[in-house]
Amino acid sequence: MKYFLKCIDCGAEYPKTEIIYTCPKCDGLLDVIYDYDEIKASIDEKKLREEPPSVWKYKMLLPVDIDPVTINEGGTPLYKCDKLAKLIGVKELYVKHEGMNPTGSFKDRGMTVGVSKAIELGMETVACASTGNTSASLAIYGAKAGIPAIVLLPAGKVALGKVGQALMHGGKVIMIKGNFDDALVLVRKLCSEERIYLLNSINPYRLEGQKTIAFEIVDQLGFKVPDRVVLPVGNAGNITAINKGFKEFQKLGITDRRPKMTGIQTAGACPIVNAIKSGAEDITPEMNPETIATAIRIGNPVNAKKALSAIRESGGCAESVTDEELIEAQKALARLEGIGVEPASATSVAGLKKLVEAGVISKDEVVVCVTTGHLLKDPEEIIEICEEPVTVEPTIEALKSAIFE
Ligand code: F0G
Repeated sequence: MKYFLKCIDCGAEYPKTEIIYTCPKCDGLLDVIYDYDEIKASIDEKKLREEPPSVWKYKMLLPVDIDPVTINEGGTPLYKCDKLAKLIGVKELYVKHEGMNPTGSFKDRGMTVGVSKAIELGMETVACASTGNTSASLAIYGAKAGIPAIVLLPAGKVALGKVGQALMHGGKVIMIKGNFDDALVLVRKLCSEERIYLLNSINPYRLEGQKTIAFEIVDQLGFKVPDRVVLPVGNAGNITAINKGFKEFQKLGITDRRPKMTGIQTAGACPIVNAIKSGAEDITPEMNPETIATAIRIGNPVNAKKALSAIRESGGCAESVTDEELIEAQKALARLEGIGVEPASATSVAGLKKLVEAGVISKDEVVVCVTTGHLLKDPEEIIEICEEPVTVEPTIEALKSAIFE
């Protein structure tokens, strides 16, 4: 398959065999560029419409030339949420629940591609910095591929389920006395000095896997495009990836328009929102990001430039929500629709509600919220925000009085 890497800043091009993460000339972010005429000619229209969605259903648009390292990622449900739509006041609302991936987050889409790429390039160790989900996913795909995975986590700021996954699947887990942004600087340095393949979302191949969220949304809506896609933003890779997916389907003539990409952050960690609202060309990093949504506790998102342009060119916007607002949305998803999500994921719904109330999002829109991770990722947060269970003596009287009084 034909593709190459191209710098989004200076336009320099590099062959797919090079092991680089940013442009060697100007340090700009890289994008994967394909020959869309070749891809278009290879698409089997009947198969595209009939085969159920999964990451590798769309392999004609993925930059992997070997048999992939896979544990059946993608194919996550797109739930039509009428009760939530009514509560928020929009015409049609869907939730794409990425928590239903094999390791409980959307990261698996990127890792099946990224770890496959590592193997293809002959790399024998992989690494990442993570707020948790990326590390869980990398540990699992490393295990499946039979290569060591080194993961750097911000000490004391990672949800329990994610640490548990990384440990259980045999990741080399290292706690850094610093935040995620510090850990990312370190792991980038490590991978530039040692023969270790970096699998943070600065790696352009990882984002290619994540763009399949867009393909699946279109597929599951019967090849229709929603008006808007709302999702949490942390390191700002996913919003970039999903926007690219929608652009590619349009380029290939599969769809005829694109949704407005809408990014949500928390009030304690919102450099992208600030840049969008002030019209700034780049972000101002935040030194001390803080939020209950530890997955997106990020002050200096590496993909900021790509994400700002994805939001702007799609006609979207960005908003921040408080921890209280996201907890309310997390409970509404759980109790109205039966969708269990981790705190970061609930920002999508909280942000949608806020933007509808403010009149920024019209009530006539068909909206898809992406919920990025599963509820069970962060059991400690659940205990913190829910009512404590009652404990009673083992008698029918005590039981009835606990239920009815
Ligand atoms: N939601 C969840 C549950 C996440 O884990 C992340 C990122 C995001 C949203 C934001 O996605 O970074 O592409 O903008 N988690 C990364 C990690 C940083 O290390 O697991 P993004």
